Amino acid sequence: MSAHRIAVIPGDGIGTEVTASARTVLDAVAARHGIDLSYEEFDWSCRRFERDGAMMPADGLETLSGFDAILLGAVGWPGVPDHVSLWGLLIPIRRAFRQYVNLRPIRVFDGVASPLRDATDVDFVVVRENVEGEYSEIGGRINRGFPDEMAVQESVFTRVGVTRIADYAFDLAETRRRYVTSATKSNGIVHTLPFWDEVVAERAANHPGVRFDSEHIDALAAKFVLQPGRFDVVVGSNLFGDILSDLAAAVAGSIGIAPSANLDPTKQNPSMFEPVHGSAPDIAGRGVANPIGAVWSAALMLEHLGHASAAADVMTAVERTLAQPQTRTADLGGHASTAEVTDALAAQLR
Ligand code: NAI
Ligand code: MG
Repeated sequence: MSAHRIAVIPGDGIGTEVTASARTVLDAVAARHGIDLSYEEFDWSCRRFERDGAMMPADGLETLSGFDAILLGAVGWPGVPDHVSLWGLLIPIRRAFRQYVNLRPIRVFDGVASPLRDATDVDFVVVRENVEGEYSEIGGRINRGFPDEMAVQESVFTRVGVTRIADYAFDLAETRRRYVTSATKSNGIVHTLPFWDEVVAERAANHPGVRFDSEHIDALAAKFVLQPGRFDVVVGSNLFGDILSDLAAAVAGSIGIAPSANLDPTKQNPSMFEPVHGSAPDIAGRGVANPIGAVWSAALMLEHLGHASAAADVMTAVERTLAQPQTRTADLGGHASTAEVTDALAAQLR
């Protein structure tokens, strides 16, 4: 069997702690399933920025292009502006490798308290368009400092872009509970979002077995809070998907368990897997970070690489570990260290 080559970018703060944990869990599950993983680690981070003046080397993207996947911890550190760490590493990777899907699964696990009273059977996925839409660089500002100062920023929705994200959402729904909700606002934003609605509805027609709803973003935000259990796959533009995925992660209880994948579904380029949380300078270096967001992200990577049953085993280990009070970290009200949670996960996979 061919080996999968994984580029590991631990980054800053707890990024280094949780990626080490994810590797331990990956090694355990890979041994059990006979999967050959090889890793190369890169010290691209704010530490590197302070030393060398750049988050990554000039040929960093070229280096990454030779890998099958990228596992990232978190980047960001006090003293280095957040836009430097974001635009110096994460955004170039997402854009250069055409990672047009941002995938954010949401589940409320036994043992994890949701801030909502009625959050039972919550298990859905937000599929966010990741390379166009509202986050475009087209626009500008004029008359700076004058009373008639103005700013314009254009949203860009392309037929190719909307089609491929809708297709991804419907294909994913076919493997789940067969229900897609599309986020829109075509009553207020009268050009781009009616176009989005039209293209998504066209793609829905290819999936007669999948139930399909279109909901305005404001009403949808309210339903995430009032009836989170009703959703299966939720697809949205770059801005709507960004906001919905953070709202959804909050519904699930802790940012420490939330995973994400930035995918090029064509597999022409490496995809990137990273926990949703940042480098958490307030707890970094103390060995108390919750590693589950990184471990779940690693499970998404296994799935993307074609190892669905290994990924399912990791998720079973996650469920069991969260269900036991003695293997919960402080963010979940427990006392376990990162190492104790990691050992518990790995022990179940051996
Ligand atoms: P953060 O996610 O690092 O931390 C927010 C709060 O959640 C903190 O109190 C932290 O202790 C807690 N927390 C986060 N992850 C945890 C875990 N795994 N276990 C237990 N507790 C956890 O967000 P913050 O503080 O706003 O940002 C810190 C730095 O991280 C900034 O430089 C920011 O730019 C960067 N960041 C990077 C991201 C990335 O690499 N994708 C994403 C978000 C923030
Ligand atoms: Mg966000």
